[in-house]
Amino acid sequence: MDHWAAYDAMGQSFDDHAAGGAYNAHYDRPAMLAAVGKVAGLDVLDAACGPGFYLQELIEGGARVRAFDGSEEMIRLARHRVGEGAEIRQASLDQPLPYCDGSFDIVLCALAIHYAADRRATYREFFRMLRPGGRCVISTQHPATDWLRKGGSYFDVVLETDTWRLDGGEQEVQFWREPLSETCAAATDAGFVIRQVIEPRPAESMREAWPDDYAQLLQRPGFLMLDLLRLPEAGIPG
Ligand SMILES: C[S@@+](CC[C@H](N)C(=O)[O-])C[C@H]1O[C@@H](n2cnc3c(N)ncnc32)[C@H](O)[C@@H]1O
Repeated sequence: MDHWAAYDAMGQSFDDHAAGGAYNAHYDRPAMLAAVGKVAGLDVLDAACGPGFYLQELIEGGARVRAFDGSEEMIRLARHRVGEGAEIRQASLDQPLPYCDGSFDIVLCALAIHYAADRRATYREFFRMLRPGGRCVISTQHPATDWLRKGGSYFDVVLETDTWRLDGGEQEVQFWREPLSETCAAATDAGFVIRQVIEPRPAESMREAWPDDYAQLLQRPGFLMLDLLRLPEAGIPG
């Protein structure tokens, strides 16, 4: 099953939700952009770009930006948001990606790696497309919180289903839940070195607009980020 089908169905209501919502606008994006740092003059790939909020930030930061998503509807929204500012194409996290070896300084993948069926294979593609010394920065759902929400064994690797309630109605969204050790091993087995594991705190801007979410996220993590490095001397693992 293609997990982007849910995003095709959500369409504009996902765009509306992510534009100013607590978890996207005041938690994931500020923390990810801080982790990515300055991008002026760099070649950046936004993997699973969704409706293009990161594209907008990266272009404004002076990066040369390319992007892909599985969902034609998300691509349409992203193109509407940034026009000709980025090359955006349809591609899947579950397939070889249509970019040459060593094309990018940074691969950014926000809130999407948990949709990839084989995360190791996806990280191998991210590693291949990076120049030596390049970085891959990802965010995903925090495994401890997902386990507390879903139950079962923390150590299971399991396809879970959430029901999202957006303005456009209810939508089932499936994602992979796995323990932290597995999330890290998928990246390091692909050749990456972990520079930093980040458990972000909500931005101050969330406090007034979303006080309940703000209070909860100060005590219980929602997302997890990995800042990964392709060492300058590292080749593709055999
Ligand atoms: C939560 S959204 C995140 C969008 C964007 N990165 C952001 O943070 O604003 C997840 C995105 O992953 C895309 N997606 C899901 N499964 C995918 C897959 N297998 N290959 C490519 N894109 C996928 C969806 O279409 C959706 O745009």
